[in-house]
Amino acid sequence: MLTSTLLTYILIEASAVVAFPDIGRALAASHLKERIAPVAPFPEYPGSPSHVVYDSFDPVSQLVSTSGDNAWAAPGPGDIRGPCAGLNAAANHGYLPRNGIATADAINTGLWEAFGLDKTATLFLQTATMFFDGDPVSGRWSIGYHSDKTQSLGLVGDLLGNETGICAYGHLKTEGDASITRGDWLAPDMNSNCASYPEFAQELLDLATERTGGNITPQVLAEHSYNRKLHSIATNPNYFSPVYAGVAFTFGAHMFAYQLLANHSAEYPRGFLTPEVFESFFSYTRDANNNLVFTYGHERIPDNWYRRADDDAWTLTDILISTAQQCLSYPTNCQVGGNTGEVNSFSGVDLGDMTGGFINSVDDLSDPTRLGCFISQAIQADVPSFLDNVFSGAALTEVLGLVDTTLMPALAGLGDCPNLPAGKSVMEYGKGYPGAQFMTSGSRSPY
Ligand code: HEM
Ligand SMILES: *[C@@H]1O[C@H](CO)[C@@H](O)[C@H](O)[C@H]1NC(C)=O
Ligand SMILES: *[C@@H]1O[C@H](CO)[C@@H](O)[C@H](O)[C@H]1NC(C)=O
Repeated sequence: MLTSTLLTYILIEASAVVAFPDIGRALAASHLKERIAPVAPFPEYPGSPSHVVYDSFDPVSQLVSTSGDNAWAAPGPGDIRGPCAGLNAAANHGYLPRNGIATADAINTGLWEAFGLDKTATLFLQTATMFFDGDPVSGRWSIGYHSDKTQSLGLVGDLLGNETGICAYGHLKTEGDASITRGDWLAPDMNSNCASYPEFAQELLDLATERTGGNITPQVLAEHSYNRKLHSIATNPNYFSPVYAGVAFTFGAHMFAYQLLANHSAEYPRGFLTPEVFESFFSYTRDANNNLVFTYGHERIPDNWYRRADDDAWTLTDILISTAQQCLSYPTNCQVGGNTGEVNSFSGVDLGDMTGGFINSVDDLSDPTRLGCFISQAIQADVPSFLDNVFSGAALTEVLGLVDTTLMPALAGLGDCPNLPAGKSVMEYGKGYPGAQFMTSGSRSPY
């Protein structure tokens, strides 16, 4: 349990950041100079308490097929791969369409079969992603950069805008900065948000060696997440962390890297993630000098790999609890805001103002119930403004009509949030931050 000193520290830090953004800046800068321990230890087994004691292993149902229809094949010409190790690996093994265009059915069945991701999570992720980055009418979205194959509204011709996919110009919606190994889209260099950078992967492996002797654990990933945010603040003048892509999704992916990629056995029913398994899933090989080499889109489910058990699935509730646990351990990870055009200029957005008073300090976000409603509020505010950027005319009317019938039911999994005030969209609260400017297309290469 927290000592009162720690609790006081969290409260002081959290409220200071909101009231005086400059203190947030000073804090970020001082953290860079001096490594600090987490405010409260991040749990060894995050998520729902049931995972802590899970102790069964069934080699038959947990072994994931990598042969026949599920044999690995590299993406062919025109097939799309992107920033998500899990989606790329699933597509390379036929658990998702090999062309990289996701559909609702494929997401719900493929991610369960391959990884044991519960339907509460896939329903939410599928729905949010098709609204943010794809086509809410057909449900299709690209697992990488823009593809013409996601659009279904052919009849409305030039009223149709540009569906971004989840990386490149999809930045800020689902994809955020300070990823496990991907670059920051608006950083001066190493700025592909679709490709993986060996430097960041090596940092994770080195941290794991230091902390555990080699295996990657949830605690190692939580610390890496903190390090990556400090790195972005210190090197990317345009670093920005919005609510969904920045506070929730980036960390959600950090947890997926263990919860969905770890191998399982009778000895380790809660999983163990070796560097070799991590490298296979992240499309890394070794060169003659044993240095990491990344190949775009070659993510692979290792042979003889056992996913998490059916009755120990990773749920939407687990995503919320582990994200809240992050906010308790690393409150600065949960600050909404960014640099103001220079490195080390982090300035926090006033949470009370952006949430209509629903959230008033980062400390509130360590409660999974409030965090769920905070994320729901942000998505409800963001979706119409993002749709407005991508669609117009009759197409816009049609997709806005789907907010009530399709988006809202899927957000119910984030919690029942009575009297939730309307929040502000990232386009409002991000005004003035160079890293919160949104474009749906342009001349940059996604790689
Ligand atoms: C509908 C479901 C999913 C969506 C929409 C999705 C989307 C994304 C996106 C947008 C990113 C980039 C995040 C960032 O910029 O930090 C990402 C990263 C990641 N995702 Fe997924 N993902 C999904 C399911 C999965 C699954 C099932 C797994 C694991 C089996 C997974 C594992 C990861 C990992 C490990 C990363 C971090 C990659 C890196 O930073 O190098 N995701 N995902
Ligand atoms: C997964 O764990 C099992 C049991 O320890 C082991 O036999 C198998 O080789 C491991 N798979 C991989 C890909 O490391
Ligand atoms: C959509 O965006 C992509 C990537 O920026 C670009 O290549 C394509 O030309 C755009 N299409 C339209 C219709 O604007």
